[in-house]
Amino acid sequence: MRRSRWYPLLGLALIVAGVAGLLAMASLGSPAANWWTGPQSFVSNGQRIFLMGTGVEGPITYREGPFWLGMHGGGCATCHGADGRGGRPMMLDISAPDVRYSALTARGYDEGLIARAITAGLGSQGQPLDPAMPRWQMRAEEMAEVIAYLKTLR
Ligand code: HEC
Repeated sequence: MRRSRWYPLLGLALIVAGVAGLLAMASLGSPAANWWTGPQSFVSNGQRIFLMGTGVEGPITYREGPFWLGMHGGGCATCHGADGRGGRPMMLDISAPDVRYSALTARGYDEGLIARAITAGLGSQGQPLDPAMPRWQMRAEEMAEVIAYLKTLR
């Protein structure tokens, strides 16, 4: 019973140490401000949309696409890979194709057909693409920026 007198004091000492620690962390700059380890800046808005699914004007919306994309968020790179080469299994039966501009033109696409695939989900022959490929709603400038970015992928 005698020793328990010290317990409140021990509690107080821990609180003081905790507050001192928080003050020390605050004076060193909050580590929480640097939690994001992805790209801090993007070479273009097209790259930003490709990697993140969000442009400078905000998120790019879409129809279709797998349920998990809405939960987890992401851009073209989530399925087609940061290098655009695709081939990644996507928790679905289908893997995403290579979408580097050179690979798309080799498969019969031109800029207009690429834009149509991205927004309307139609392949180069007009065939409907698998619903795993989201149908993106983006402005003409954003589309131009994304296609320009596909051209930079080697
Ligand atoms: C949730 C995964 C997913 C995301 C995100 C995604 N795609 Fe796709 N994409 C696919 C799949 C799967 C296909 C293949 C569909 C098929 O073959 O029927 C495809 C097909 C395509 C095609 C047609 C390629 C071909 O060979 O016919 C283009 C172009 C394309 N995607 C571009 C994009 C762009 C640009 C974005 C970002 C704005 C994007 N995709 C985001 C999964 C995705």
